[in-house]
Amino acid sequence: MAKANAYGIRSVELAVRDLEATKAFYEAQWGLREVARENGSVFMRATGKDHHVLTIHQAPRAKLMSIDLGAKSSAEVDALHAQAVALGAAVLEAPRELAAIAGGGYGFALQSPEGQKVTISAGVAVHADHEQDASKPERLSHVVLNAAKYDEQIAFFRDVLGFRLADTTDFMDFLRCCEDHHSVAVARSEGASLNHMAYELPNVEGLMRGSGRMKQSGFDIGWGVGRHGPGDNVFAYFIEPNGFVTEYTTGMEQVENDSYEWHGPEYWATAFTRPCRWGMAMTMAPGFRDAMKGKIVEERNARCEEVIAKGLQNGLKGAAE
Ligand SMILES: [Fe+2]
Repeated sequence: MAKANAYGIRSVELAVRDLEATKAFYEAQWGLREVARENGSVFMRATGKDHHVLTIHQAPRAKLMSIDLGAKSSAEVDALHAQAVALGAAVLEAPRELAAIAGGGYGFALQSPEGQKVTISAGVAVHADHEQDASKPERLSHVVLNAAKYDEQIAFFRDVLGFRLADTTDFMDFLRCCEDHHSVAVARSEGASLNHMAYELPNVEGLMRGSGRMKQSGFDIGWGVGRHGPGDNVFAYFIEPNGFVTEYTTGMEQVENDSYEWHGPEYWATAFTRPCRWGMAMTMAPGFRDAMKGKIVEERNARCEEVIAKGLQNGLKGAAE
């Protein structure tokens, strides 16, 4: 039986501490737009056809909630579900009509070995219009996960979801499921967290204008502007208000399904000795590596909890006096 495979990454879901402030950031600075609001969640679209590329939910702690992958058809959704069951993956819900969820479609959900929810769906609504502003994201490009159970995460995406290994460097495996060189990457790390999410802009001019808008709004570039080795994509990385790392990217290498040749750490260490093909983005801003490890999100979560606990204490004290 042919292996079933996911086809493309569509959106990410984040829990955020301040829904309205986060929404305002993603609209005014990042360039997305609210497209639906349901049960306290805001769904945001980019300029392209995908119904939404980001969903945000109000919660006490910011964290990655799920990654939403596409499938080519309902039959492929069913095949992926059967494959997941056969391989003993943690299936959270069987395939069903998603009429109650913004964008609809038909899909199911499962859990990665490190506990992230992954949803797979087909037939989700698409937009016919396309805003012509190259400084705004067109779609979600890829997501990079930090993983401690590194080999299990790779096996999950490869065996259960049908991804192919594109390339491997000293610290990261790049996984592809469509023409993009990678839609997911897994970074060797101490624990599970979101390393970063990346949004595709149409061209370098747009990426520079979008990055300028971010800088003018007080969001400095954490790493970039540069051009990656694996994937050959141009990048500019930022830290958004919750502490998540988010990337503007453009020009991801497009690969034919069976023709792309995997290269390992030795190749990448010798072919590209610098962290940026251009020699431009040689270092990250101070603290930025910690942000990519998910530490800034945790620090900001802890700070908020401290403020809330102090407020509660003061309130109790006031009530007792
Ligand atoms: Fe990236």
